[in-house]
Amino acid sequence: MKNRDKNLKNTTDDILKKKNIGEQERNKLWWEAHPMTYEDWDKQRELRIPKSKKDFLKVEENFLNGNPFFRGFDFGAFKNKKVLEIGCGSGAASCLFAKGGAKVVAVDITKEGVEMTRKNANFQNLKIKVLRADAKNLDFPNENFDYIFSWGVLHHSQNTIKAFKEVSRVLRKGVSGLIMVYNKNSLRYYINGLNWLILKGKIFKGYNLEKVQDFYTDGYYHRHFTARELKKELGKLGLKCDKIIITHMGTKMIPFLPKFIILWLKDHFGWLLIIKFKKE
Ligand SMILES: C[S@@+](CC[C@H](N)C(=O)[O-])C[C@H]1O[C@@H](n2cnc3c(N)ncnc32)[C@H](O)[C@@H]1O
Repeated sequence: MKNRDKNLKNTTDDILKKKNIGEQERNKLWWEAHPMTYEDWDKQRELRIPKSKKDFLKVEENFLNGNPFFRGFDFGAFKNKKVLEIGCGSGAASCLFAKGGAKVVAVDITKEGVEMTRKNANFQNLKIKVLRADAKNLDFPNENFDYIFSWGVLHHSQNTIKAFKEVSRVLRKGVSGLIMVYNKNSLRYYINGLNWLILKGKIFKGYNLEKVQDFYTDGYYHRHFTARELKKELGKLGLKCDKIIITHMGTKMIPFLPKFIILWLKDHFGWLLIIKFKKE
């Protein structure tokens, strides 16, 4: 097993062994052990944490380059709007919204996420309200925000639907939001999954396609959605889909294929499922 995968799986296994802790505590412990900084997962934890302004700007660059979707995204379109970021990690997106003039509130379930985002904002002289909170249970009044953004977070919850309910509750009527979760109808889910399940024999140890994701996917929980499921679940909560986008990270998906085929595959079977929605 690659070091990177070993590292992720060992954390999950260690947490699994813990008795008498809540399901969401397990999620939190995983992210405290592996804060999201766009550094390789197999690097030592301390070396993955940004410490200086230069480090934070590097994370921002990696966040933008690692997610080609943001090339066409206007962080300045929310000037003077109250924006909530759920699961801010290092604070890269929150700082970009704040630089664009938005009034940003950022939340993360981990202490490290909160600390990194505060430091990031301070280094860049940005005003961001950063709070420690669980997406499933947000301490904000109803209809409090003009825009909600959550990138790669809500699928890591033990109860993603409860987190979606909170998004719907705290978003103002008639305004929009964007959520990215993992795409089930993706090459990564099926090809890597079947590789681990069949070729590496995990099927004989009781794993299934969903559970085998533990070996190579970040987070203690990592629920994958199809576009249809995501639209349906949010629709039930009054969050009407404006647009679904399927994309992938900036990495080379399959090294030997020509670029145009890779781009087509990313647009159709990429791992990132983005939904832009409006609250009715
Ligand atoms: C994959 S990282 C993404 C971070 C950031 N959005 C980014 O793109 O750089 C997931 C983040 O969500 C946070 N998180 C996970 N579950 C959460 C929850 N239930 N409520 C709030 N934050 C959560 C983790 O602590 C982690 O910082």
